[in-house]
Amino acid sequence: MNAFTLLKADHKKVAGILEKIDETTERATKGREELFTQLKNELDVHTRIEEEILYPALEEYDETRAIALEAYEEHALVKQLLAELASAPKDDEEWTAKFTVLKENIEHHVEEEEGEMFTKARKVLSEDEIENLGERLQEAKQLQNSATAG
Ligand SMILES: [Fe+2]
Ligand SMILES: [Fe+2]
Repeated sequence: MNAFTLLKADHKKVAGILEKIDETTERATKGREELFTQLKNELDVHTRIEEEILYPALEEYDETRAIALEAYEEHALVKQLLAELASAPKDDEEWTAKFTVLKENIEHHVEEEEGEMFTKARKVLSEDEIENLGERLQEAKQLQNSATAG
């Protein structure tokens, strides 16, 4: 499993959930709650495996160090917004506004990962290393998922 293929599949799943939440209104809070829980679970696992496996590997190279460090900061902002959204009332237009900011932040971050980060990473990592990272990401993801399910 190629690391970038795995992460892109996660990004696509997250983008789908974001679009669905975007279509909900203050009057449909139950659907909104359920979708938000799904989003939060996906992002918890995804950000964690990137921070534990991908970003540390990229920090080791001059070409990818800055963008990896930037990515940790972007995750921190996303997590802050997720925490605020989790505790705020879902039937309020403030929630909708905050969600829009979260969505924009995630879209920007994903664009940077799939663009600049993965492009530079392909230059410093060998095919074997990319495969190996993919396997580690997948294992970590399975572990995380079974931990939250159990
Ligand atoms: Fe990320
Ligand atoms: Fe990502």
